[in-house]
Amino acid sequence: MKRGEKVVLALIGLVLFASVVRSQLHVEEKHDRDIPFYSAATPDVARKAMDIYRSNGCKSCHTLWTLQDMLQSVPAPMLDGIGSLRTETWLYGYLSSPNPQVVLPSRLKKEYQMPSYATLPEGERHLLAQYLASLKVKDWYFDQTKKAEYEKLTGVEYHK
Ligand code: HEC
Repeated sequence: MKRGEKVVLALIGLVLFASVVRSQLHVEEKHDRDIPFYSAATPDVARKAMDIYRSNGCKSCHTLWTLQDMLQSVPAPMLDGIGSLRTETWLYGYLSSPNPQVVLPSRLKKEYQMPSYATLPEGERHLLAQYLASLKVKDWYFDQTKKAEYEKLTGVEYHK
């Protein structure tokens, strides 16, 4: 190969490499903007907690991972990102309270309010609290998440 050809090949290689890197960066950035919610839980905790979540009908009132019951009509706060708003200790106490409305007042009719899960086995309440606490929201979406929660809980528009 002549020297000139080598230079040309090297340049082509460089351009290709740069464009691959750029497209990767672009994908990362876009992805980052798309989904602000993530869980820091291990797959094992996530699977067990989601089983408890499903078998206790949480889904009939709450949204999580954009999943909700089709007939859902209760304006309950969504649980995506809840671990950035509440601590595991708070969540455990809330799930364990015989009267959750003492911990967190409700604006809704009794049948729509958060039920007490105090009779769930302690281990299940722990797992749920651990998993809920692992549900985080990325910084750039924190304010929107806080606002949405506030408005669901109070029915009043949020002002910073
Ligand atoms: C009958 C509907 C209903 C069901 C079923 C239900 N919730 Fe709730 N939940 C609510 C409502 C409504 C609120 C807001 C407080 C209130 O109005 O009582 C709430 C509040 C919460 C909160 C506090 C949210 C915040 O903004 O701090 C958490 C956490 C929560 N629920 C988790 C769960 C989990 C986990 C389950 C299942 C084990 C569950 N909920 C089942 C209706 C429900």
